[in-house]
Amino acid sequence: MWNELDPDRMPKHVAIIMDGNGRWAKKRLLNRINGHEKGADAVRRIVRTARKLNIATLTLYAFSTENWQRPKAEVSGLMLLLRRFLTSERRTMVDNGIRLNTIGQFDRLPGAVRENLKAGMAATANNTKMVLNLALSYGARAEIVDMVKQMATAAREGKIDPAAVTSEMVSDHLYTRGMPDVDLLIRTSGEMRISNFLLWQIAYAELFFTTTLWPDFGEDEFRQILKAYQNRERRFGSVSPCT
Ligand code: IPE
Ligand code: IPE
Ligand code: MG
Repeated sequence: MWNELDPDRMPKHVAIIMDGNGRWAKKRLLNRINGHEKGADAVRRIVRTARKLNIATLTLYAFSTENWQRPKAEVSGLMLLLRRFLTSERRTMVDNGIRLNTIGQFDRLPGAVRENLKAGMAATANNTKMVLNLALSYGARAEIVDMVKQMATAAREGKIDPAAVTSEMVSDHLYTRGMPDVDLLIRTSGEMRISNFLLWQIAYAELFFTTTLWPDFGEDEFRQILKAYQNRERRFGSVSPCT
């Protein structure tokens, strides 16, 4: 079929900036937290779809370092939803070969969230079919600052030769160590910005922006974007083989 996906050309790493929960709620005269609740349902749908389509790594931007500035009630509402998600999805992750991982400032998260994350990561540690990478209290600049600190310390201790630093070594000191670079980055809600997400890892990602608000994002649109991704020619600075 014309819109059939080619299983051999699936992106290995898909990253999503899940934006628009607040606007979704506002349009319906609901509370922002109701929007986040619907957003959590969209997360469940997209995780299942990604697994079904054999995407090896799915990174979801769930809470940014900047999001700590939101009203206290919204932050605690989001943390509660996150805990609910981690508890309700643990079985599905275990049964479907999904390994849970998190990137970001783990220590800044509330103790109860940390415990849920640890339990989820432990229960799914041996799974190999897909990595579900939740970006929590994540900021790309904080990640880069951490990387510089680690590498500078290692250099001072004589463990790294500063003249021999490579981009692979930099990648190995980021939260995403061991994961491939992002192939496809999607942002919902119509905003055309990166908002401090994965700056290093998206160097050659294909970017897709949709005006759909995150709670309305579903399998059909995800498949359409994957189809459009497969129709793009990734040249990585080189020339097309047919020119
Ligand atoms: C995305 O939705 C969820 C988080 C950032 C946690 P928003 O809450 O940013 O929704 P809008 O952008 O206000 O519509
Ligand atoms: C980005 O969305 C962060 C997440 C989706 C978690 P924001 O709504 O926080 O970003 P800005 O404020 O529009 O840049
Ligand atoms: Mg937003």
